[in-house]
Amino acid sequence: MSSVAEKRFAAEAAAMLVRDGMRVGLGTGSTVAYLIAALGQSRPRATYVASSPATEAAARAVALDVVAFDELDELDLAIDGADQVAPDLWLVKGGGGAHTREKVIAASAERFVVIVDSTKLVESLRPPVPVEILAFGAGATLRRLAPATRREALSSPDGGVIVDYHGEFDDPAELSARLSSIPGVVEHGLVAAHLVAEVLVGHDGGVHQLSGRGAP
Ligand code: A5P
Repeated sequence: MSSVAEKRFAAEAAAMLVRDGMRVGLGTGSTVAYLIAALGQSRPRATYVASSPATEAAARAVALDVVAFDELDELDLAIDGADQVAPDLWLVKGGGGAHTREKVIAASAERFVVIVDSTKLVESLRPPVPVEILAFGAGATLRRLAPATRREALSSPDGGVIVDYHGEFDDPAELSARLSSIPGVVEHGLVAAHLVAEVLVGHDGGVHQLSGRGAP
């Protein structure tokens, strides 16, 4: 089965979790694009917060009710893709450079659901890990992050510089703390397993569900 079909299966399963009256956070990426298309078809009367201008435009194009995040204090549900999913459900996100907003949304949701194709399942997380840094002093911050490279063609939805950290690591919690301790780092793309309620993995003809510690 192609990863495109797997993404669509996972996205369509997640769309069925959205009910009338819910406040829902939408991530960013190609899998979320299938989610938005499915929600445009099923049209639950929900209110949505978008993690990027691209997601906001796609959601508005299918007439979803998108509001600014400062209009809501918390979310019932957040749904997003991921670049890597480890067996313990730690994640790497940020392939699209929107991971700071995506993590704010995920942390604000009672239930954070991750939608992926099977290629995203890994035995252990590995570099690169995307990191958003402030444009101010970006060169100095990049040096302190070494080994890291700047993604020239990409910035975050808030104008942050996106870099990839290339160092090998065994313990994502240790790396997470280390990256967060560097002045100038806005947010990194490691997502702690305790945030994840479940991962929906598309596969041949259906969806496989991995349950996480973040279940409500
Ligand atoms: C966006 O910044 C990322 O975190 C995406 O969620 C991640 O890269 C998954 O993207 P795809 O759904 O396109 O694979």
